Amino acid sequence: MNYPRECWYVAATIDEVGDNLVARRILGTPVLLYRLADGSVAALEDRCAHRPYPLSAGYRDGDRVVCGYHGCTYDPDGSCVLIPSQDNPPPGARVRAFPVHVSEPFVWVWMGTPGSARLRPPPATPELTSGDGWSSTGERRDVAAGFLLLHEHYLDLTNVFEMHAEMVPPGIEALPPLEEVEISEVSVSYARELPEAPLAPWEAAVSGLDSSEAFSRRETGTFVTPGLHRQTYTISGGDSPVFELVRLHGFTPQTPGSTRVFLQLAWRGTAVATDAGQRLTEVFHVMADRDSRVIETMQRCLDEDEPSRRYVNVKADRAAVRARRIVQSMIEEERGL
Ligand code: FES
Repeated sequence: MNYPRECWYVAATIDEVGDNLVARRILGTPVLLYRLADGSVAALEDRCAHRPYPLSAGYRDGDRVVCGYHGCTYDPDGSCVLIPSQDNPPPGARVRAFPVHVSEPFVWVWMGTPGSARLRPPPATPELTSGDGWSSTGERRDVAAGFLLLHEHYLDLTNVFEMHAEMVPPGIEALPPLEEVEISEVSVSYARELPEAPLAPWEAAVSGLDSSEAFSRRETGTFVTPGLHRQTYTISGGDSPVFELVRLHGFTPQTPGSTRVFLQLAWRGTAVATDAGQRLTEVFHVMADRDSRVIETMQRCLDEDEPSRRYVNVKADRAAVRARRIVQSMIEEERGL
């Protein structure tokens, strides 16, 4: 496997999980999600303990789930409490239940060693939960590529000139080199300052600022965990931020070669346009479409390549290379290497 298991991943957004039974594949495992009467979310392995049949093909009985094949019934903790054809379930009749943490809009799930989840809470996303002037919107999609290709792509934004030229402020010909790359054992982040420049059309449209004035910008990107990437983009006039944008990506491996992506945008500013949410949704949807096509193409190339094929790294890859090493060492630690 090319992903660590001892990590929180986004299983769904909270609006996806209601009275229905939601089937997901997470780290190669079929997972069933559903909302309990008290508002919390249960995550069970989406397989009946009796036969290889998905519980998501069954139905709910209050907080319990009934298998649609022979009627075995499960509590939200995964224990089988009823088998219609006999008096009592046999000992050990249960399915795995996974720890869940809801921090809106994300429903996080822990697929690693049971009991370890409490030691490491999911990463904080204050822009999505604190209020504090922030607004938020998002989308999700499946990408036919390994999750690490997505992390690497978003940790090196020097592709914008080729891929998203309309996003670049007028007059900026190249991104300055990374000024700071902060590395810890488990995360890596970079920052860069852009020289003062007028607003690109998308910036003017969402920020409500005067497009004839020049502004500075600071961009940061962080590999927070294998399950979360965080990018910030701050437009400043003088010394003060006048528009802040945070782009979060929850990357959840479905299989080694496919990833569920949860894109969430948060923004605030001094003169934000009333339709900023709609405009940002459109702009970043188009970007995500292009990004997905390139990343899926890279995955196809990787699948075709000889295992010995190597690629060259350049300076802009520093953060991405570090993220790959962090993931590799997490996987090796889990394997006991
Ligand atoms: S397969 Fe589920 S009850 Fe038999």
